[in-house]
Formats: sequence, C-alpha cells, structure tokens
Amino acid sequence: MSVIEEDRKKSVINWYPGHMTKARRMMQEDMKLIDLLIELVDARVPLSSRNPDIDELGKNKARILLLNKADLADQTANRIWKAYFQERGLFVLEINAKTGAGIREIQPLVQQACREKLERDRKRGIVNRPVRAMVAGIPNVGKSTFINSFAGKSCTKTGNRPGVTKGKQWIRLNKSLELLDTPGILWPKFQDRDVGLRLAFIGSMNDEILVIREMALELLDFLIQSYPRSLEERYGMKLAEIKGGTVGILEEIARVRKCYLKGEEPDYDRAASLLIEDFRNGRLGRITLELPETDRKTQNGDGVE
Ligand code: G4P
Repeated sequence: MSVIEEDRKKSVINWYPGHMTKARRMMQEDMKLIDLLIELVDARVPLSSRNPDIDELGKNKARILLLNKADLADQTANRIWKAYFQERGLFVLEINAKTGAGIREIQPLVQQACREKLERDRKRGIVNRPVRAMVAGIPNVGKSTFINSFAGKSCTKTGNRPGVTKGKQWIRLNKSLELLDTPGILWPKFQDRDVGLRLAFIGSMNDEILVIREMALELLDFLIQSYPRSLEERYGMKLAEIKGGTVGILEEIARVRKCYLKGEEPDYDRAASLLIEDFRNGRLGRITLELPETDRKTQNGDGVE
C-alpha cells in the first residue's frame, strides 16, 4: 500500500464519525422543512464532490444542482456535466459564487424546479406561500460564498415561526423564496482512492494528511494525459524532451522555478506545492478532473475535445 493510501485511510478514520453522523441527522431533520434542495458541487470534480446519499436524502424534493467554481473548470466539461445531471432529472446551472456569475439565472430555475409544488398549492387555494430552500454540499464547495452572494444585502432574516424548529433562521430573498441560513454539510465518498485524490487536488482535504510530493506526481500523471499544453505553457517546457516521467517533470518545475535545496539539489516538495497551488488557483488554466464514464475517452491531449 502506498503512503498516500495509508494516509487516506487515516483520514477516513478521522473524518467519518461523530460530527458527520450528526450532520447527516441534522440534514434529515432540515429536509422536512424545505421544498427545494439546492446542491452545490465543485465543477472540477462534479461526482467526487457529491455525497453519495444525496439522492436518497433529497427524494421527493425539487432539486437544483449548481456546478460551482465553473470559472476554474473546463468549459466543454461543464457543458457535458450539465447535460449529465439534467438527464438525471436535476435542474442545473454553472455558477461562480465568488463573482456572482450565473446567480441571476437561479430564480427562474426555482420556479421551474418547483412547478409541481406551486401548482399543488394553487389548486388548494394557497397563494403566495414562499418556496423554502436549503443549500447543501460537502465542505469547501462554496456554500457560504454562494449563500452570501445569492442572498445579497437586500434580504431580511426571519426568526422562529410556528411550525418551524426553534432556532432556525430563514433568509427571505423575496416574496417567493426563503433560504435556510445554515447550509447542510455532507461528506464525500472517502473510501474511493480516486475520489480522495481528486478532493486532495482541489484542496478539500487537509494537505497535512497527504504527502504533497505523491499528490503532485499523481496530478502530473493526470495533466500529462489530459492537459499537457497547460503544463508546457505554464512552466515553459516541452514534455517530449523531459526524461524520467513525472519525477523528471517535477524536477524540471523545480529547476524552472528555482526551487533548490543546498547544493543545487531540486527541492521536490516546494516544486510540488507550487504545482498544486497553481492548479488550485486556476493558473494552469481551466481544468476538470473527471468526466462521466462515457465521455472519458474524449479527455485527452488538450482538455476535452
Ligand atoms: P463552504 O461554505 O462550502 O465550506 O465553502 P466556502 O464558501 O467557504 O468556499 C470555499 C472556498 O472556495 C473559498 O476560498 C471561496 O472563496 C472559494 N469559492 C467559492 N465559490 C467559488 C467560485 O465559484 N469560484 C472560485 N474560484 N472560488 C470560489 P478560500 O480560499 O477559502 O477563501 P478566499 O480565497 O476567497 O478568501
């Protein structure tokens, strides 16, 4: 077993119990209060950043899935993922919660997603009852950023109300939509090695539990296959001329970026951190780390064709 796998096993043990079980229970409770579940995923890893139980938790609810951080992901891949989730009955949007891009399109989508509920209300003579929604997702997908951006400054908070669990705060976005102010926190599927690695690449796992150098070599493996030009452009190198596989490339990054230990020895760890940071901040370009099974073969050479 590699060091990275051993370390990830530790992370499974550290992550799963206690607070995660409690988070799930809380979310189950909150589900009773809402009509619409707004799920956030990271567009660079739309499957790996999903909770495997979310479909079960959200059954019988209207559903919107937001491909957040779409600014960091491959545009073609964003379109592929959008279609993928739409085919599975979800209403989908690409957004950038940080800048607010795409957020204005949510409101009309809420109406579409909740059409059945609104129709039911109307038949029962209930008018003007706002849709109640909740935001959910694994840590770091941008839930808080999204809530701030979506709610903006103009909205009002409502306090406890009859029939609503004590202490719940709702943000009133407008007369037809209220949002639970605390997002539901879910956890990803840690047990899967590839999922764990992809989450590590995007920074959703604690770096200390992973060996940075191993991680960089794994990322290089992927980038060489799927986005070689991003690497060449960022570090001004020709991959075909580099010997020694991924280690050789990491060494070249160390050389180009002048990461040396004493005596001109390459500082692999610094080069590894640099590469990972460049990826996370989008400095390698827009990169998506996974595609639906059927589209995987198209992800090679220069992003998604
Ligand atoms: P969470 O509540 O789901 O845990 O996530 P949170 O909103 O704290 O966001 C996690 C990080 O992701 C934040 O960066 C946030 O700025 C960033 N982020 C959220 N949405 C987007 C997006 O659409 N695009 C991009 N590029 N980034 C996004 P941070 O490093 O923790 O903070 P900061 O650098 O913004 O200060």
